[in-house]
Amino acid sequence: MSLPLAIIGHGKMGRLIEYLAPEHGFHVVARFTRASIALLSIETLAGASTAVEFTAPSAAPENLRRLAALGVRTVCGTTGWYEHLPQVRDAVESSGSALVFGPNFSVGANLFSQIVAHAASLFSRHLEYEAWGWEIHHSAKKDAPSGTLKNLAEEIRAAGFSSPVSLAANRAGSHTGTHEIGFDSSADTITLRHTARTRDAYAHGALLAARWLQSKTGVFEFRQILPQLGGTNTS
Ligand SMILES: NC(=O)c1ccc[n+]([C@@H]2O[C@H](COP(=O)([O-])OP(=O)(O)OC[C@H]3O[C@@H](n4cnc5c(N)ncnc54)[C@H](OP(=O)(O)O)[C@@H]3O)[C@@H](O)[C@H]2O)c1
Repeated sequence: MSLPLAIIGHGKMGRLIEYLAPEHGFHVVARFTRASIALLSIETLAGASTAVEFTAPSAAPENLRRLAALGVRTVCGTTGWYEHLPQVRDAVESSGSALVFGPNFSVGANLFSQIVAHAASLFSRHLEYEAWGWEIHHSAKKDAPSGTLKNLAEEIRAAGFSSPVSLAANRAGSHTGTHEIGFDSSADTITLRHTARTRDAYAHGALLAARWLQSKTGVFEFRQILPQLGGTNTS
């Protein structure tokens, strides 16, 4: 059965999610931009009880609180707002609604993160290795380093790697998103790299999460629910 979906933020990601929504059993009934978000209400949601939010770091926390108050289950891909997560979590939990958030909705990028964590645990026993993380994104991306690179650095630390991890970020042109983690010693260099070919992978991941969210309440990270999302031919 096709479910009604609201799109919050009709930019590059919002438009792509609208285009791919039918592949995941959704049809878009409402779209909100910076100009129209003030009108968000049960009436303007036009029957949608699920939303996908890809806006801007300054906009997401307020949007998520308002969506929770309206009882709308939401998938949020906006990055750079996580210092407000405790207040957003309170709003979602007290409303009995549901939220999936994550800095990177690509299935392949999340599997890459698990590979990096495993590599870091192996290198943690060999103190001659230091590590770096590097990324490049299109020049309109606002947060740098990205949430994805920060998460990768956290995974490396959590895996027990205690030597320095040097992080760097570039913003230029139309890059869709490349993340690289390297381990270096006087003897050799090991490089792990994930390159997103198109934005489709992020949109497919967000829509998979939106389907998964239908019977849930609470706050979830995309990487946490990934094992439950089942097979997909996207990466
Ligand atoms: N998690 C992931 O996998 C993933 C993947 C890609 C991107 N992202 C993140 O998703 C966000 C959006 O990316 P994008 O490439 O789609 O950006 P974009 O092309 O700039 O689109 C953002 C859209 O949000 C709208 N907007 C801004 N403030 C708003 C508000 N208060 N309420 C409603 N809409 C508002 C903008 O409207 P106006 O046009 O009116 O300004 C614009 O249409 C960024 O934070 C980006 O880093 C995450």
